[in-house]
Amino acid sequence: MTRSIGVLDPPIRLLCGTGPTNPDPRVLRAMAAPVLGQFDPAFTAIMEDVMALGRYVFRTSNTRTFAVSGTGRGGMEAAIASLVEPGDSVLVGTCGRFGDLFVDLATRYGGRVSQVTAEWGQVLDPQQIDEWLKRAPAKVVAVVHGETSTGMLQPQLGEIGRICRERGALLLVDAVVTLGGVPVEVDGWQIDMCTSGTQKCVGCPSGMAPITYNDRAEQTIASRKSPVISNYFDLTQIQRYWNPERLNHHTLPTSMTYGLREALRLIVEEGLEARWARHQRTGDALKTGLQAMGIELFGDPRHRLPMITGMFIPEGVSDEAARARLLEQFGIEVATSFGPLRGRLWRIGTMGYNAELKTVLTVLTGLERVFQSFGVKSDRGAGVVAAEKAYHSAARG
Ligand SMILES: Cc1ncc(COP(=O)(O)O)c(C=O)c1O
Repeated sequence: MTRSIGVLDPPIRLLCGTGPTNPDPRVLRAMAAPVLGQFDPAFTAIMEDVMALGRYVFRTSNTRTFAVSGTGRGGMEAAIASLVEPGDSVLVGTCGRFGDLFVDLATRYGGRVSQVTAEWGQVLDPQQIDEWLKRAPAKVVAVVHGETSTGMLQPQLGEIGRICRERGALLLVDAVVTLGGVPVEVDGWQIDMCTSGTQKCVGCPSGMAPITYNDRAEQTIASRKSPVISNYFDLTQIQRYWNPERLNHHTLPTSMTYGLREALRLIVEEGLEARWARHQRTGDALKTGLQAMGIELFGDPRHRLPMITGMFIPEGVSDEAARARLLEQFGIEVATSFGPLRGRLWRIGTMGYNAELKTVLTVLTGLERVFQSFGVKSDRGAGVVAAEKAYHSAARG
């Protein structure tokens, strides 16, 4: 080693990309608690807490409600690996990058994958799924609730759930960006399996994937003809770890489990309805402020996510240089986009702890200054004033 490596001292950022978001300091404090052995009764009680809190947040009574050790993608992979056997028919709804991820996963695990699609910036029509299933039954229908890549919220999941039941398919939903930010009604919408992540509206660092599934899904997995191809993502084993049997499958990340417990506990403390309203108010205020600055928003206005706002980069502004300026001068991170939207669109996240008016005002101030530095003209402070007004009038109801 030729250079000395100093003490870890990362800068403090305002994380307004697509995740991670800044966790509540109480979550970070919980993560610093002493490490326990994974079978210590004090720790298994914490696992039980995570399961109970998870049921509240997912709005379900599913016994099988726990967390996969891995990021959001790990939860999706556990779901697909466990539900899909080689040769099974899988129908995926795709209108963005995470629908594509379901396609990729289901293909890798040997599924015969079909797709119903919508343009990026649009959402699926449940009738597309119904039409397809009428012609060709599927074992699993996989849908993304919040398409982070486009900022769109898939409506009518309850209708999709009803269709899947009627047509004998299991409904699998990716709620990575939506859980804790907008209603996710697992039981009410007849979702058979739902997976999420921790680093977005749940408000924890990334590293675990909350998951819940009902008896139909469990029985489907139990009656597989072949073992789950992945050992790590085998829900038949993981569910035996998250129950009194405590099967020694892997070593649960202790500190992450503490953080997740505290993040979920904070959601219960706030109340889901209040939390959804806070995300909506904040997202609406940001959108209003951006529009007051003359910035165009992306996607179908009827289906925009509150927690992810897609905005077109103004003419004359360089994607990379402007984001670098925002980071250096204001300590603010926003996200660029993928695929057809790369270089044209930024995505601004207002999730969990950051879903507050002060975040919006800070971001709008930074954006105004940075855009001005690229020669963009706008009324000074117009965004901030409009956002503040929108937020307060929504808060008054
Ligand atoms: C909708 C959605 N699904 C899945 C993922 C993958 O999650 P992770 O990056 O935690 O693996 C993300 C992450 O951005 C997401 O937004």
